[in-house]
Amino acid sequence: MAHLGRVVVDCCSMATRRPLLLMSLLLVGGCFQQDKPGTSQILPPDYETSYVPVRSCRPAYGHGSNSIVVFASPDAESDYLLGIGPLPQNSVIVAKESDKADCSTLVGYTLMFKDVPGYDPTAADWHWQRLDDQRYVLEDGRLQSCSSCHAQCSRNDYTCSPP
Ligand code: HEC
Repeated sequence: MAHLGRVVVDCCSMATRRPLLLMSLLLVGGCFQQDKPGTSQILPPDYETSYVPVRSCRPAYGHGSNSIVVFASPDAESDYLLGIGPLPQNSVIVAKESDKADCSTLVGYTLMFKDVPGYDPTAADWHWQRLDDQRYVLEDGRLQSCSSCHAQCSRNDYTCSPP
């Protein structure tokens, strides 16, 4: 019996401790991995509370027939509102894109992220992204399709949305 008891204990330590370890690793991993692969690493999921609204709903001339609401990361807010550049490194300015004039729908996002100095000297080191409504990245990087038009606003560090 003692021997059997020992076998049971050994069996339990193999059969339950390891799966428990595995399960806790999966749980911990699950907590950190909130986003699906391909989701923007720039725009945080809680941007609506952690960022600051800086422009209310308006038609975004240049973004097709979409209307936008603009949010800024906290470090970018004051310079963006004052129209002073260059914005600090790691600044994020994001436009929520809507196909309704009153911005009642969400069809995706466009954003600009102030990357490391030298990232793109031809466009003030802005890193551009276009996302779908789930924050999945559709276009990313030194996007000339974005910067060539935003260059008309270079005196505002490539930000174009007027107060
Ligand atoms: C044809 C010109 C044009 C193109 C192309 C364009 N934009 Fe814009 N964008 C604008 C204009 C103009 C505004 C300001 C609209 C307004 O508020 O009246 C704007 C606003 C924005 C804003 C809000 C912040 C600000 O003040 O500029 C972001 C973010 C943005 N665009 C990102 C992008 C990204 C990313 C792309 C490329 C995928 C892109 N844009 C392509 C013209 C353009």
